[in-house]
Amino acid sequence: MTPTSGFFLCSEQRQQEIPGRTVREKPVPATSVIGLQWGDEAKGKIVDLLTEKHDIVIRYQGGNNAGHTVKFDGNTYKLSLLPTGILQGHVKSVIAPGVVINPHAILKELDGLAAGGKDCTDRLMISDRAHVICPWHLLEEVAFEAARGGNAIGTTMRGIGTCYREKMGRTHAIRIGDLILKDAFAAKVREIVPFKQKVLNALNPDGEQMDADQIIEDYSACADRLRPMVADTTSYLLDALESGKRLLFEGAQGSLLDIDHGTFPYVTSSNSSGCGIHGGSGIPERAIQQMIGVAKAYTTRVGGGPFPTELDNEVGQKIREAGNEYGTVTGRPRRCGWLDTVATRYSARISGVDSITIALLDVLTGFDELYICEAYNINGQVTRDMPSRCEDLEIAKPVLRRIEGWTEDITGIRRFEDLPKAAQEYVTAAGQLIGSPVSIVSVGPDREQTIHVPY
Ligand code: GDP
Ligand code: IMO
Ligand code: MG
Repeated sequence: MTPTSGFFLCSEQRQQEIPGRTVREKPVPATSVIGLQWGDEAKGKIVDLLTEKHDIVIRYQGGNNAGHTVKFDGNTYKLSLLPTGILQGHVKSVIAPGVVINPHAILKELDGLAAGGKDCTDRLMISDRAHVICPWHLLEEVAFEAARGGNAIGTTMRGIGTCYREKMGRTHAIRIGDLILKDAFAAKVREIVPFKQKVLNALNPDGEQMDADQIIEDYSACADRLRPMVADTTSYLLDALESGKRLLFEGAQGSLLDIDHGTFPYVTSSNSSGCGIHGGSGIPERAIQQMIGVAKAYTTRVGGGPFPTELDNEVGQKIREAGNEYGTVTGRPRRCGWLDTVATRYSARISGVDSITIALLDVLTGFDELYICEAYNINGQVTRDMPSRCEDLEIAKPVLRRIEGWTEDITGIRRFEDLPKAAQEYVTAAGQLIGSPVSIVSVGPDREQTIHVPY
């Protein structure tokens, strides 16, 4: 008897069930890259590195709140909504159902790449199930953030949360599949705008008045350009997986910004930990067999919310300057602090990461001493577990392990054993405390500035 485990049916059985379809013995396991902190962990660099060995790169959550930077061959690329894999010609890039799409933003990004000599439209597929960010989402976000006053989330103001809210609410949501149907889209806009205008006027009587005709015209022009890229990406990815294509899932944001598992309410509105891959892409969870978590050698955060190891002092400023810690999307200075292995261990555990990358290690060069947070002290209770309430995280005092610093320039080093002893010790301690083997150490933004660590 041959095993029949659903997705991993053996080829003989599958071909009996689906006549005329060639299926390999076993789908090639897919890989995913996720952030273990509050975003900007260098996921873009790691996805770019791994792209070479993959056929399809998939974004499955978030939207143009993400900013992924990649450097190679003397060029710097900043991607926001487009999967990082789009930079490499052999790869198909997919934007899956779980992503929220601002049509203007995606076209601007594609036009920017085309202007630089990289016309990528023929290798991009956009799910017809993905939701559309509309002008009212942007206006609502301004109003809602203002209403929170001192407790503002500090969002990227890209209409991400307000679009996801609509999706969950199901009343006034528009999907890419609707956008590309001219009449259906126009009818939806005419129905939604008067309703949304009432809500917006109540929140801000002096606010902008929307013009439904103008919105229909603007968005329909975008739809005409996007239409050739729109597809049923779910079937495409399932077929690709079954026929042995190598899939790489690119996480946006970081696990601590996950709507269910992050530092709620100071989070984004999608599942940005590994938990979002299946839901956002439609690919069965067990197809993901290599989960790589990316963490900076220290911690950063943009926007509001608790941050136990934050260094609101000259040490934090030194990290900010050395790491150029200013947001890719909004230009805001990122808050900086020591590596927090309570938080990163939690992230690694909820996603079941197989190995981790420690990125931006070079930024820590030149500090006399370094610290890693190994536990929290909350009202006298020492714990290694991540509290669920922000109020507890706000008062959590980090229990810090001191590690000797190093002064040598490490940006040219390519073998782990060539790193200064103190740097080796730092990475080893980080891996042990996070609870996962370190497979990659990044010592500079360039693709080449990478140390692969056998584990
Ligand atoms: P992402 O959102 O996780 O893709 O990360 P971002 O691209 O927003 O932020 C990471 C920043 O660090 C980018 O400017 C990268 O070019 C840069 N970077 C990546 N790896 C390294 C590294 O090892 N060292 C240094 N100094 N910079 C790095
Ligand atoms: P990448 O993919 C860092 C943060 C915002 C804000 C919170 C909610 O580059 O790592 P949103 O606009 O998503 O509703 O904002 O989440 N945030 C990020 N921080 N990196 C990101 O993406 C982020 N995307 C959102 O600053 O605190
Ligand atoms: Mg980023």
